Amino acid sequence: MSDLSVARFDPRSPGFRANPYPTYRYLRTHQPIHYRAERRDFILTRYADNREVLRNPGFGRSASSLIEPVAGTNGGLVERLVSARNESRRLMGLWLALTNPPDHTRIRRSLSRAFTQSRIDGLRAYIQAKVDASLDQAMERGEMDVIGELAYPLMLDLNCNRILGIPPGDWHPNFGQWTQSMSLLADLDITPIAYERGMLAIAGLAEFFRQWIAACRAGSRPADGLIGMLMAAGDRLSEEERLANCIMMFTVGHSSTVNLIGIALLSLLKHPAQWHLLAAEPSLIDRAIAEVLRYDSPVQGISRTAFSDVALSDRTIRRGEKVICLIGAANRDPARFPEPDRFDIGRRPNPHLSFGYGIHTCIGKNLAQLATKIVVGTVARRLPGLSLATDSPQWEESFLGHGLKTLPVVF
Ligand code: HEM
Repeated sequence: MSDLSVARFDPRSPGFRANPYPTYRYLRTHQPIHYRAERRDFILTRYADNREVLRNPGFGRSASSLIEPVAGTNGGLVERLVSARNESRRLMGLWLALTNPPDHTRIRRSLSRAFTQSRIDGLRAYIQAKVDASLDQAMERGEMDVIGELAYPLMLDLNCNRILGIPPGDWHPNFGQWTQSMSLLADLDITPIAYERGMLAIAGLAEFFRQWIAACRAGSRPADGLIGMLMAAGDRLSEEERLANCIMMFTVGHSSTVNLIGIALLSLLKHPAQWHLLAAEPSLIDRAIAEVLRYDSPVQGISRTAFSDVALSDRTIRRGEKVICLIGAANRDPARFPEPDRFDIGRRPNPHLSFGYGIHTCIGKNLAQLATKIVVGTVARRLPGLSLATDSPQWEESFLGHGLKTLPVVF
């Protein structure tokens, strides 16, 4: 990147999305609380500021913070789209991730029951068997796309089948397309087209889950897993909250972990000494995955809105103003991490912010870490000679959700 491009924070630029770290470094040094006048939001790149915003109850979630497409026309919008979009907007406002206390506390309690340590530990053998079966198939060919042939099928199955409780035979053929649309909807500076696609995906998922819940109630489908738990929550959740959070869980339950698995293998294979170290010392796996999360976080940022005027370092964020907490930048702050640009799988301590911080801390982090450790640990054990089939794999179009489209490897 030239000096000028380093100074430019542009989530829509493919080069920036592939490697945002020089820009983060520039902003952290020159404008750590960077005001974007055209968007009227603040971009935070220091660890301490990010953690403070995520901890401080003066900041919270606002559905509107995720659903502001860039200026443009929606001309020609047909009525069907308008009604789908209205319902989608309403449902999105009920997502756990976008609510504030006391609703947040109540909804989180119902969802958390599916993520107890014992339930997650109980998935270990299942995940191991799935990973081994995928590798058995790939080994016959000597090549594989880590995303399409391993990470995505594994996480879709884990999330839909084992967490939500929907057996594969009942999956909707649009699941893949809806995942794609939803990840762009949650992005920064989204375009009107991405916004409309996201609204349609939510409408499609709402229809699917409405029918699924009705079938469970009628006894023609099993009320297992998280959906069964949400149904059993009775009037602790409204019918709309139940539906909305099935839709949210469908997306958050697999996409970031697919991204983490891809980024983990990419980062390790780009640092062969670290890859060989892990293959020789499997007990380093916990620290290795923590380092991947710090070094190149699958969630680059999250947004908050100030509920009152709040002092942040030498600035005041006014009530109603929006801040973007750049987790990916916080994780490379030299004030918190010595030699932050060095990828070191032995790093300790490693207090990265990649699962968030404060009351919205990721509910699925144990599951995400377990699945990633099993995938990476098994690949390192069974295929230590693995190498990248390309040095510059393609990145997804979203910026906040950071991940690879494909990751071809050979062995
Ligand atoms: C590597 C994978 C993952 C990463 C990096 C990740 C990251 C995050 C982050 C940064 C947040 C905080 C959002 C905020 O504060 O605004 C979050 C929240 C959340 N995550 Fe994850 N996540 C991952 C996997 C998962 C999985 C597997 C699940 C569920 C199966 C999940 C469910 C959730 C939920 C429900 C929330 C909202 C919590 C709340 O608002 O209280 N995540 N995640």
